Amino acid sequence: TYLGLDLGTSSLKALLIDENQAPIGTASVPLTVERPHFGWSEQDPKSWISATEAVLDQLKAAHPAELAAVAGIGLSGHMHGATILGEGDEVLRPCIMWNDTRSHEEAKELDTEEARAITGNIVFPGFTAPKLLWVKRHEPELFAKVKRVLLPKDYLRLWLTGEAVSEMSDSAGTSWLDTGKRDWSPVMLAKTDLPLSAMPRLVEGTESSGGLRAELASKWGIKAGVAVAGGGGDNAASACGVGVVAPGTGFLSLGTSGVLFTSSAGYDPRPETALHTFCHAIPGLWHQMGVTLSAAGSLEWLSKLLEEKPGDLTARLGDTLEGPSRLVFLPYLSGERTPHNDAAIRGVFAGLEADTDRAAMVKAVLEGVAFSMRDCVEAGGGTETVDKLIAVGAGSRSRYWLKLMATVLETEIVLPQSGDFGAAFGAARLGLCAATGADPLSVLTVPPLADRFQPEESLIGPFRDAYRRYRALYPAVKSVLQ
Ligand code: XUL
Repeated sequence: TYLGLDLGTSSLKALLIDENQAPIGTASVPLTVERPHFGWSEQDPKSWISATEAVLDQLKAAHPAELAAVAGIGLSGHMHGATILGEGDEVLRPCIMWNDTRSHEEAKELDTEEARAITGNIVFPGFTAPKLLWVKRHEPELFAKVKRVLLPKDYLRLWLTGEAVSEMSDSAGTSWLDTGKRDWSPVMLAKTDLPLSAMPRLVEGTESSGGLRAELASKWGIKAGVAVAGGGGDNAASACGVGVVAPGTGFLSLGTSGVLFTSSAGYDPRPETALHTFCHAIPGLWHQMGVTLSAAGSLEWLSKLLEEKPGDLTARLGDTLEGPSRLVFLPYLSGERTPHNDAAIRGVFAGLEADTDRAAMVKAVLEGVAFSMRDCVEAGGGTETVDKLIAVGAGSRSRYWLKLMATVLETEIVLPQSGDFGAAFGAARLGLCAATGADPLSVLTVPPLADRFQPEESLIGPFRDAYRRYRALYPAVKSVLQ
């Protein structure tokens, strides 16, 4: 059997699968996020360890024999967080998380042409390097003690295996990696006054990073030394879960935020479009990712306001896709990453009229989010290279939304059968790869599909026009909100 551990922002999840990748059991424990000041977001690394102990205790109680048969473990986790360690790997301060924006000035400063050329990305405030520059300036005594910086799931690995190791997909989100070379950049490290020795050793996500420590193994009844795979950042691990590996494949995640993730054979960064270009968790592959900050989050907002569940709201639209609304919605409820990299922009409804009702507002919200995903497609140079997108996340429960997405993105959208194909499953699959040396392409397959949605040919043209109107609105709103 194989074990996947996903260190999420709000919970740590463990998933145990058998040799045929069928689920055996799952356990999860909530995690808290501390927000001591405006824009701060922190987590106590010790809570990751106690949560891991708790999920393993649960799995051991429910499935002792299957847990004893674990042959490989894989890790996934929220990306970009700075876990700052001193002498003897002592935790010096709470982890500064991906959604912490305190280091926006440091990010701006680090975001030079040279940095973009090395890392393939804008230096976003959420990324790791600017956080260390912030610590250097605001907590200099603490910075003087820094011996090592680890990404969240890699701190968990240090505890599991005793080894400081990271892998390419998560490391690409630090702004310290030469993303094309898949190696640390001494130039980027120097910009934050860190030596190469502060960085962990690098492996690929499918490789073993070390063996499970004997003490933990005997506690959980697992064989000591079983391989712990490199694993991946949560997006790359999710891609492994839904089989988005081969170049030209992609997934569309409609969670609180929206992610358009495509796999690519070569390294082809486009930082100017605010697209993320990271290494995939599989050797020799990269991926691109457009991020819209409020996808299903926009529908959740409307649902709270109208006091009607998201599923009931979308059900008002029926199943037949209609042409674009006159009402236009910009989904920038918490700013936007792709394509604007604009933390200050906010949303708007344009074109409200006397008979605008609930259904009209829901339709405009679904369309606005679809257009923001089209922005991510455009940032990546179009969908010609992607033959279909796999839909995941809460928003994929609406068939209307998926039909709309297929038409606006002008690509087929497929929906997996219900099941657990998330980051923990991807991590478990990477554990399988590392333990058996199996070809990742034969392991990381696409789950069985429940449905397929084709673009509605007659509506492609009208939605192209509506997308142009949507694009025209951003500069106008920006000028008003200045
Ligand atoms: C990716 C990103 C998030 C985090 C948190 O760039 O910021 O998806 O990985 O889950």
